[in-house]
Parts: sequence; C-alpha cells; structure tokens
Amino acid sequence: MAESTHSSSSNTPPPPPSATAPQTTRRWWRWPLFLSAIFTVLLSLLLVQLDTFDAARYPSDELAKKPVFVAPRTNPRVLHGSEKIGEGRLLGPEDIVFDPELGVVYTSCEDGWIKRVGVNGSGVVEDWVNTGGRPLGLALGYSGEVYVADAFKGILKITKNGEIEALTDEAEGVKFGTTDAVTVAKNGILYFTDACWKYDLHDFMLAILEGRPYGRFMSYDPSTKETKVIARDLYFANGVEMSPDQDFVIFCETMMLRCKRYYIQGEKTGSIDVFVDRLPGMPDNIRYDGEGHYWIGIPTELTFEWGLARKYPYIRKFIAFWDKYFQRPLMERNAGAVAVDLDGKLIGRYYDTGLKFVTTGIKIGEHLYLGNLLESFIIRLNLTQYPATAPSSTK
Ligand SMILES: *[C@@H]1O[C@H](CO)[C@@H](O)[C@H](O)[C@H]1NC(C)=O
Ligand SMILES: *[C@@H]1O[C@H](CO)[C@@H](O)[C@H](O)[C@H]1NC(C)=O
Repeated sequence: MAESTHSSSSNTPPPPPSATAPQTTRRWWRWPLFLSAIFTVLLSLLLVQLDTFDAARYPSDELAKKPVFVAPRTNPRVLHGSEKIGEGRLLGPEDIVFDPELGVVYTSCEDGWIKRVGVNGSGVVEDWVNTGGRPLGLALGYSGEVYVADAFKGILKITKNGEIEALTDEAEGVKFGTTDAVTVAKNGILYFTDACWKYDLHDFMLAILEGRPYGRFMSYDPSTKETKVIARDLYFANGVEMSPDQDFVIFCETMMLRCKRYYIQGEKTGSIDVFVDRLPGMPDNIRYDGEGHYWIGIPTELTFEWGLARKYPYIRKFIAFWDKYFQRPLMERNAGAVAVDLDGKLIGRYYDTGLKFVTTGIKIGEHLYLGNLLESFIIRLNLTQYPATAPSSTK
C-alpha cells in the first residue's frame, strides 16, 4: 500500500493546476445554487402545506385489496387499424348510444351538441340538438326519445322531434354538481349518477384528488316527478346501465375501480352488491351490447402514479397545488375499454399507450366504437380484423 503510494507520487507528476482550477471555480457558485434549490423545495412544500385544499385518505380496506385483474385476452394496439369517425366535427364525444332503427349513434359533445352519426355505411354527421350545457351520458328511450345527463343542467329529456325538457337537477335539497350518466328502464324510471355534488365539471379532477365520496346514484320517476337517492357516498359515481332482463342496474364508481349492481326485480330487490371490481383501470361509462357483454370505458389504467396518488393524500394535495399554479402532471396511460360478461367477469381489454381519457366503449355489429374527452372524433375498430388475443405461450 505504502509502496504503491510512494511509487505513484514519485513517478507521476502532480496533476497540472489547470485540471483543478475549473473545479474550484465551479464550486463557488455551486453552493448557493444548491442552497437555493433546497430553499425552493422547502418553500414549495410549505406552500403546499399551507394550501387550504384538504385531501383525504381513501378507505384502507379498498386499497388493501389484491392487485387489479388481468384480462385473459387483450388488444394493446387499438390505434393500429382503427378509423377516425367524424374527425373535426365531434369535439370530445363523451358517450355513444346506438339507435338500430335509424342506423345512427348519438354522441355527446363538448360544445353542447348531441350529434347523430350514421354508422351503417354513410358516416354522415348531423348536428341534432344543443343542450346549451355539456351533455355527458346518454340513454335511448323506448319511443325514440333521448335522455341526457348534462353535467351543468341535470337530467334532460329530448323528444324525437328535438324538444328539450328539464327533468331534475337536485335531490334531498342538494343540487347535482356533475351530472354524469343516465339509463332508462322499460317502465320509464330513469337511473342516473351525479359524479360529485361538491364540484362542477370544470373541477372534476379536484373531486378525485380530494378523495371524499361526493357521488350519488339516483332514480327519477316521470309519473311522480320524484327524485330518489339510492346510494350515496360514492367515490366519483359514473356510468350506469340496465341489465338485459331489467332485473338490475349497474353503476360505476371510478376511484374504487368497480361497478355495483342495484336490484330492481326479484328476491334481492332494493339491495346492492359488487358487479365487478379490481378493474385494470378507472371505469367511466358502461354500455350493454345486446350480445352478452358490457363494455366499460377506461380513461386510464391504474398507472404507477395513480396508484401512489390513490394511496397517499399528500401526493394528491401536491398534485392539486401543482394543477392550480402550473399544470397537472399527466398521469394517464393505456386508455381504452374492457368487456365483461353478464356475471361481471373480465373477458377482454382493448387499449393503446397513445390513448388517454377514453370515456366510453360500445360494440356495434363488428366494430368497437370509442368516445373520449380529448379528441375531435370517435375511434372505430373492426374487431373481426383486430380482435383481442390470448398472450402467446411462446413468450
Ligand atoms: C344498422 O346496422 C346494425 C348493426 O349492424 C343493424 O342491427 C341495424 O338493423 C342497421 N340499421 C339500419 C337502419 O340499416
Ligand atoms: C371487418 O373485418 C373482416 C375481416 O377482415 C371483414 O371480413 C369485414 O368485412 C370487416 N367488416 C366491416 C364492416 O368492414
């Protein structure tokens, strides 16, 4: 050891001063930079701390649940081979319902329009009715009327001839905040959700970041004009759909990654159980395709970032702060749709890394149609040509 030190000091010349000089010059400004970085971090942590936004813990029994389910069949490249329908004319098409008699879909757009799009070949886009608000969920009535969950205006009925009638926008004295989705039973009763009574659509992200259950699942009876709260304290109440036999109604709870089932016929009438949970992403609208499958729009999978945010209120508080003064970090990925069978079993998943905020998925004929909040078109994919497949065993 000593010998080698000795030999090196005797044989190699000391490093030239020029080599150390930049080191020392760098050092004099490095310290203030380092200190100011620390100061900035501490200051922003303090500002976040002082911010009045108060995020709560999600129920720990839910977070403690096992990991999300993996679909047995997937198509992870939905954008490959898909078409854009109505490009430039369908701004943020949030929901899609199919009217087989007219051969059109109705879709709800950001500019207040409910548009009709020909899906039996024509592809014609028609401006149908403008609600003056922001239509989200849609339901086709049994006499050609359309029911609308308008985020700002509550539940609306639009007659076949395009006349708008406002049905309800409050329950138990609490106004709806973000009316989100609606479905209609054969007996005329409407079932619908208010995602969160505390925030309107502009601030829906705050409801999610706050982590408190402001969502409600309700019914409206047009014969009595009565609005009833069926389930309250939901963590962002979202899509609703009738079962094909009219025996239950499904409603999704976005931040719990699940959809519940409310029985309206048979022995279990009035009770609620879980229809599907541990979904691979956050559920939005749910639609029945008439062929034994429900399709659920998935705005984002449960990404690593969302997983952390769901677990730690402080992270959500930090994100809300960041969102207020700068821009919310993008935490969404692999949006798309999942298919579940009549028993709530996950059977397929269709997604793409390039997709965000897909809000609805529905299979019509051979095609999957996807609605979303960010694009100006509906995405259509031929499922015969691009099906979901089981992972290959050679992997
Ligand atoms: C449109 O196509 C759908 C599904 O392929 C079919 O069920 C429906 O009858 C068609 N409607 C018209 C008007 O052609
Ligand atoms: C969907 O793809 C299949 C297989 O390539 C094709 O036979 C069929 O005609 C396509 N359907 C439509 C409606 O384009």
